[in-house]
Amino acid sequence: MDKVLVIGSGGREHVLGWKLAQSSHVKEVVYAPGNAATAQEIKGKNVVADVTSIDSLVDIVQREEPDMTIVGPEAPLAAGLADALFEKGYDRVIGPTKAAAQLEASKFFSNELNEGLSVPQAEAIPCQNIGEARAYLNLLQRLLSVRSISDKGIVLKADGLAGGKGVLVCDTTKEALDSLPKFTKEYGPKILVAERLFGEEFSVFALSDGEKVIPFGVSFQDHKRRDDGDKGPNTGGMGAYGPASVADAKTVQAVCDKMLKPVVQKMAERGMPYKGVLYAGMMMTEQGPKVLEYNVRFGDPECQAAMMLLQNDLYEIFDQMIRGRLDKAEFSFLPGAACTIVMAAKGYPESPQTGFLVQGIDKAEKNQRVKVFHAGTVERDGQTLAAGGRVLGVSAYSPSGLNDAVREAYEAVSIIKSNTGTGQFHYRTDIAHYALKK
Ligand code: AMP
Ligand code: GLY
Repeated sequence: MDKVLVIGSGGREHVLGWKLAQSSHVKEVVYAPGNAATAQEIKGKNVVADVTSIDSLVDIVQREEPDMTIVGPEAPLAAGLADALFEKGYDRVIGPTKAAAQLEASKFFSNELNEGLSVPQAEAIPCQNIGEARAYLNLLQRLLSVRSISDKGIVLKADGLAGGKGVLVCDTTKEALDSLPKFTKEYGPKILVAERLFGEEFSVFALSDGEKVIPFGVSFQDHKRRDDGDKGPNTGGMGAYGPASVADAKTVQAVCDKMLKPVVQKMAERGMPYKGVLYAGMMMTEQGPKVLEYNVRFGDPECQAAMMLLQNDLYEIFDQMIRGRLDKAEFSFLPGAACTIVMAAKGYPESPQTGFLVQGIDKAEKNQRVKVFHAGTVERDGQTLAAGGRVLGVSAYSPSGLNDAVREAYEAVSIIKSNTGTGQFHYRTDIAHYALKK
């Protein structure tokens, strides 16, 4: 029986550990650092960890000697955690090398790669500094006016990692021009100036062993804006569900065949084989699916809904991936649908109020089809306190479909309370609204 180490502390890491613990091959799941719930999970244990320090994470791996290490968030991968572990002889790592993690860590890199492979994406110009961006946007503005073409807007994207921020969707070219000084001050000089695309978004997950790419046959949809009706600031994600009706299994396979496989093949040719979770943020435009971004890990909260649906042993799938035998791995998904409602702390994302008591989770989980994954929580004297922007991911699976999954998740949400007066929850009441309206 094997020991696994899950690096990270959010809902994604909780659900991955929960799913791995269901494997008969797994005897212990160590979370570094985990949250209030992970230490209480079956086979679970938390260890103190600083996920911003590669040295401290390597120390933990050397101390714990896991049979498999799963890296949840992107930042340690972009900083070279997988490389550092390989150097020490730990090669059973789920997560790409630093070079391969550029797929998420550099928008210039992924834009150029897509362009070379004719992968459908927004037209974009990489600009090294504010002067280049300004010159390009001025030229574009003049061209639109001379040709009397309507201005559909512009998207500014910071080249590097920005923790889910670093993207500004502007309604006009002028707005983009006006936003440049503040944007570059906040996120650095290198910006991708991109065409604004329109359509419904969806997420595709796949796994790659460096050669073969196997997609999850189900697509998911996240809700990035904080408030109902897709209003308010962008967040890490306020809720998710799957399957998303915008992209059926055939569309997911086409995204994999026409976009993800060529990318993985090209990266292997360039000497930076991609081994790990590959998650494409997609938009269904009038011209068909286009890539918005690649991520080198599972999306959160989509991962919570995805793991509620995955029928197979995740440890066996990861094991086949590490051995380069992904074609032997089995992926099947339960019929019906799963949904995750994020309960965030009021004030999220700018200044979440934390420290309040979280109550009612056991009662909410009395429904066997509900599971509450923790994100920003800590345990104090046997009680659960809110400790982050996104506090909980209240997830439900229903064999009868999305309506019931959403209803049961919201019933569970209504049972969970904060009652100390120091803070409260904020959540969206319209998760899955696109699909439910159809
Ligand atoms: P990204 O980090 O690239 O996924 O961008 C974050 C969010 O910004 C996406 O989920 C979209 O809502 C939006 N976005 C990014 N690129 C574009 C684009 N080219 N056109 C319209 N919206 C975009
Ligand atoms: N759900 C969006 C993300 O994980 O980036």
